[in-house]
Amino acid sequence: MEKIVIEHLNVRYSDGAESLKDINLVIQANAVNVLFGPAGGGKSTLLRVLNRLNDLADVDEISGKVLFNGANILDASVNVIELRRKVCMVFSRPIPLPLTIYENITYGLSVAGERRKAHLDQVVEKVLRQVALWDEVYDRLNDPAIALSGGQQQRLCIARVLALEPEVILLDEPTSALDPVSTAKIESLLGELIENFTVVLVPHNTQQAARMSDYAAFFLQGELIEYGEGSKLFLNPQDPRTQDYVAGRFG
Ligand SMILES: Nc1ncnc2c1ncn2[C@@H]1O[C@H](COP(=O)(O)OP(=O)(O)OP(=O)(O)O)[C@@H](O)[C@H]1O
Ligand SMILES: [Mg+2]
Repeated sequence: MEKIVIEHLNVRYSDGAESLKDINLVIQANAVNVLFGPAGGGKSTLLRVLNRLNDLADVDEISGKVLFNGANILDASVNVIELRRKVCMVFSRPIPLPLTIYENITYGLSVAGERRKAHLDQVVEKVLRQVALWDEVYDRLNDPAIALSGGQQQRLCIARVLALEPEVILLDEPTSALDPVSTAKIESLLGELIENFTVVLVPHNTQQAARMSDYAAFFLQGELIEYGEGSKLFLNPQDPRTQDYVAGRFG
């Protein structure tokens, strides 16, 4: 099922560089949608567009449609705060808040006015279990989050996002700062999350792209070259540029 439909999306930065050119792409619900390709291809730009972080950057011109739940999220009338509760971003470096493990998870809910301690306790346990962190931290929830390892911090950042019960989780190279063991934990976690969420992942290398993708989209210099089911795209890419990249001949 379609979760987000992108039609004729163009993004131009104020330095004149066109970083997305006429992108037409469907983000499938309850799947890992991988955006991959060499540096500068426009992957992060697209993720930022999906939760309107482009508002903060030096974007000069943006056109086309990004349809989510029936509305074009590029419309000026869209409530960006609401959107960012439904479409959440996880960045490549884990950035926990300078608070305890518990407070990192409850912060967003507290800001939204949730005060029921029993409910907050329940959410904390639920999301920490979802990211397979509960067993590691249940007895030190009031320790500063910063005391966790990098891999644990990144799982905490994902837990923090899950507490908001978003529909779509965007992850921009979420394992690029992590060791292989932590990377494997995050990868298996993402595989499980698609039961309840839609995942859009910019992987940190082609191997991860191939491992993780239910659907994959190959970006090169602002263009979407090829898109399809991950198993087909990596085994049998159609475009010679995708073939070269997947075979490791450039990038
Ligand atoms: N804030 C900005 N201002 C001007 N140009 C930008 C800005 N951010 C990105 N760009 C340009 O847009 C293009 C796409 O960049 P983007 O960061 O989206 O690529 P990417 O595929 O995520 O690359 P990487 O793999 O290196 O993270 C590049 O040419 C980049 O220089
Ligand atoms: Mg990027």
